[in-house]
Amino acid sequence: MAGGLTLSAVLTAFIALVLVHETCSATAKVNHHCAPSSCGNIHNISFPFRLKNDPEKCGESSYELSCDENNHTVLSLFERKYYVQEINYNNYTIRIVDSGIQKDNYSSTPSYSLNRHNFSQYPSAYTTYLLKRTEYEGISFSELSWSVVWMSCEKPVNSPFYLDASTCNIDNGDQYPSNSSISHFKRYRYVKVGRTNATDVVDLCKVEQMFITSWPGNDDPSNISCADVHNELVYGFELSWLRGFCKS
Ligand SMILES: *[C@@H]1O[C@H](CO)[C@@H](O)[C@H](O)[C@H]1NC(C)=O
Ligand SMILES: *[C@@H]1O[C@H](CO)[C@@H](O)[C@H](O)[C@H]1NC(C)=O
Ligand SMILES: *[C@@H]1O[C@H](CO)[C@@H](O)[C@H](O)[C@H]1NC(C)=O
Ligand SMILES: *[C@@H]1O[C@H](CO)[C@@H](O)[C@H](O)[C@H]1NC(C)=O
Ligand SMILES: *[C@@H]1O[C@H](CO)[C@@H](O)[C@H](O)[C@H]1NC(C)=O
Ligand SMILES: *[C@@H]1O[C@H](CO)[C@@H](O)[C@H](O)[C@H]1NC(C)=O
Ligand SMILES: *[C@@H]1O[C@H](CO)[C@@H](O)[C@H](O)[C@H]1NC(C)=O
Ligand SMILES: *[C@@H]1O[C@H](CO)[C@@H](O)[C@H](O)[C@H]1NC(C)=O
Repeated sequence: MAGGLTLSAVLTAFIALVLVHETCSATAKVNHHCAPSSCGNIHNISFPFRLKNDPEKCGESSYELSCDENNHTVLSLFERKYYVQEINYNNYTIRIVDSGIQKDNYSSTPSYSLNRHNFSQYPSAYTTYLLKRTEYEGISFSELSWSVVWMSCEKPVNSPFYLDASTCNIDNGDQYPSNSSISHFKRYRYVKVGRTNATDVVDLCKVEQMFITSWPGNDDPSNISCADVHNELVYGFELSWLRGFCKS
């Protein structure tokens, strides 16, 4: 496990550096005199982003967004649908939210499980960390998100870091159809927010689903409420498109 993680970290860094190189070259090459495009609440869609029907010379195809019939700005990531909440050109981040989440519906959950390793499995135009180059530290990474993990356990867990999911009115789908052998055991469901590594997963617990969030509202992982969990999911998460590396 440790070996696997290290390898994927190295691969991520490698892919990031390749992409930085490509993005920087592209930035240098492209002469982008295109008026910003607009969709719904996102009024400033400009280089490197483009909207699907923009003139071909505008933006880059790897940063193409689309505008759906409800005026949501849509980013397709791993062939899944995410809604764009905010594009920050000052720090090269884009904040997106799973299209399955409904703001006012506390029972809604993301449609797709997502964790930081998804981004190291395939080359992606986005990273889950910000790459910075400073004069003194060289290249440094800072993570833009942390995880929200749904777990199911065979025994009750008494830990301030584990929120009892049965107190939240959240329907995250029945992972175990009633005729499967595992359903003969009662399972206890928990939500854990924050950095979670293998040693944090208590014995007899199993990760069911993972999401990521950048919600700045509660930075105390031992004191989260059901409302916090909903807010984490509704806020979504930031990704970086790496141009910062070129500019600084
Ligand atoms: C839109 O984004 C561009 C960077 O691509 C920036 O120069 C411009 O100031 C932004 N405009 C607004 C209104 O935020
Ligand atoms: C989408 O935005 C356009 C332009 O602002 C507007 O004319 C249209 O009514 C909007 N559609 C919906 C479903 O809100
Ligand atoms: C990027 O900028 C936005 C808007 O100013 C801010 O909300 C967000 O926290 C910033 N992200 C980082 C990683 O600094
Ligand atoms: C709220 O979300 C749940 C779970 O996705 C869904 O079953 C329910 O229909 C939604 N309620 C409304 C009012 O949309
Ligand atoms: C992320 O990876 C997990 C497996 O590690 C997979 O189940 C999930 O569908 C992936 N998410 C997306 C959005 O592709
Ligand atoms: C459990 O039920 C589902 C649908 O009801 C069925 O497709 C599946 O084959 C069943 N599994 C077993 C192990 O009987
Ligand atoms: C996992 O987290 C614990 C504390 O939560 C920490 O002590 C430990 O060093 C971490 N392990 C790894 C491999 O990061
Ligand atoms: C936990 O959070 C609640 C509100 O979110 C706050 O009132 C309470 O003081 C916090 N408790 C601790 C021990 O930090």
